[in-house]
Amino acid sequence: MILAAPAFIAYLAAAVLFILGIRRLRSPETARSGNSISAFGMLIALGTTFFINGVLSLPEILAGIIIGGSIGAVSAQKVKMTAMPQMVAAFNGVGGGAAALVALSEFYRTDALGSGNEGLVAAITSVLSILIGSVSFAGSVIAFSKLQELFFTGSVSFPLQKALNAALAVVVIIVGANAISNGAFLPFLSPVASIVIVLFVSLALGVLLVVPIGGADMPIVISLLNAFTGMAAAMSGFVLANNVLIISGTLVGASGTILTRLMSSSLGRPLGKILFASVSGAPKKKEDEEEKPVNSVGPDDVAALLNYEADKVIMVPGYGLAVAQAQGAMAELMNVLESKGKEVKFAIHPVAGRMPGHMNVLLAEADVPYDKLYDMEDINDEFAETDVVIVVGANDVVNPAANDPEQDSPISGMPVLNVDQAQHVVFIKRSLSPGFAGVDNPLFYDQEKTMMLFSDAKQGLQDVISAVKSG
Ligand code: TAP
Repeated sequence: MILAAPAFIAYLAAAVLFILGIRRLRSPETARSGNSISAFGMLIALGTTFFINGVLSLPEILAGIIIGGSIGAVSAQKVKMTAMPQMVAAFNGVGGGAAALVALSEFYRTDALGSGNEGLVAAITSVLSILIGSVSFAGSVIAFSKLQELFFTGSVSFPLQKALNAALAVVVIIVGANAISNGAFLPFLSPVASIVIVLFVSLALGVLLVVPIGGADMPIVISLLNAFTGMAAAMSGFVLANNVLIISGTLVGASGTILTRLMSSSLGRPLGKILFASVSGAPKKKEDEEEKPVNSVGPDDVAALLNYEADKVIMVPGYGLAVAQAQGAMAELMNVLESKGKEVKFAIHPVAGRMPGHMNVLLAEADVPYDKLYDMEDINDEFAETDVVIVVGANDVVNPAANDPEQDSPISGMPVLNVDQAQHVVFIKRSLSPGFAGVDNPLFYDQEKTMMLFSDAKQGLQDVISAVKSG
């Protein structure tokens, strides 16, 4: 497709805005404007496609904008921060499915191949878009269901699962090659029939690849599927000869891949192990196992510790802080402690909460200055010289069991915040329940070092604030 000059310039402007926007997402300070810049780029790209290229009629365009825009606007307002990974999985799946359907319809419309090199490129990219987009769609549906705890929760595996996956991959390669070569490999199967088979087998592959993966690895899988959707969209861009789709798809594919690598190294879980090795579940508590004693305290005990024994305090927010919406109370405790001359920092684990950057966003909302937020690698050496660590609604990200070579659990090998090295640790949570990965924390039972304040995060922090003020 040869673009008219205004359309080309508009697409170029949209692509530049995407790149600028994504660059600004690197820091919480610039992320909001990065989001707006990218959204503006998308508006230009949509407007150009709809109005300059005249792809659809005006009523169809308006219907699409109203339906899609309403779903996006309502979800952005209604969906809680804690349910954001499910939303990302759902939107991501829709993107992958759309890319696959665009490639499928284009393959059908152009009667399989077209001619010459262009036709060959279109055929190859169609097959890749349908393969990657379908895997992403089906995988995202399963990821959504796991995170929403609807079905396929936990790790689902069965005998010969890997052999079945390998067999399906071989089917995709042979039938896909048949579609590309205009039926040269399997003359009894038309190219269109072949590509439809690729679609259905890829959907099955998407399901089978994600069902065995346990919940603790889901964030990495969602990020990987996100990268797949970007690649599928870029492939669809080749099929349609649409530059802006190639550029935006490649950006999503590349950034998704970088994020996947960062998250898998932060969690200490190589991608190959997640996708191709089954993970043993968390060690279950035996029925007759006795409850171990803990040092259960009240807000006054925590306040006495903070007032009289703490010069340096590190706060660690986790998923429970988000559920309780306790970020404002955590910020207030920081202010109160600083007014008493204490040094206060925040330690942010890369997968604390339920999505990347979850804690940074919450604390930014509560006006905690960015320079007080420290990434794990920047603060982990400081715990040894810290008087008190206050862990609020977190478990997995501070669980020293992750470093226990004797255990094979969903968090084994995951780098954690070294809170066990501090002089004192205070946990504010409601019970001894473990976290997302279901792994008990030995630090709860270290009565010398650890105080357990059993409370809702917000209420517990407010009680501690009052007690510190009056202490
Ligand atoms: P978790 O290990 O899940 O622990 C959260 C703790 O919060 C629970 O032990 C729970 O204990 C407590 N809690 C829940 N509601 C509370 C409330 N209202 N008040 C006080 N406490 C409350 O959280 P984490 O340490 O932040 O670890 C995150 C986990 O989620 C990791 O395993 C990570 O892999 C996974 N994950 C992360 C992401 C990303 S990318 N960040 C995405 C998906 C999953 P009680 O019930 O006893 O209160």
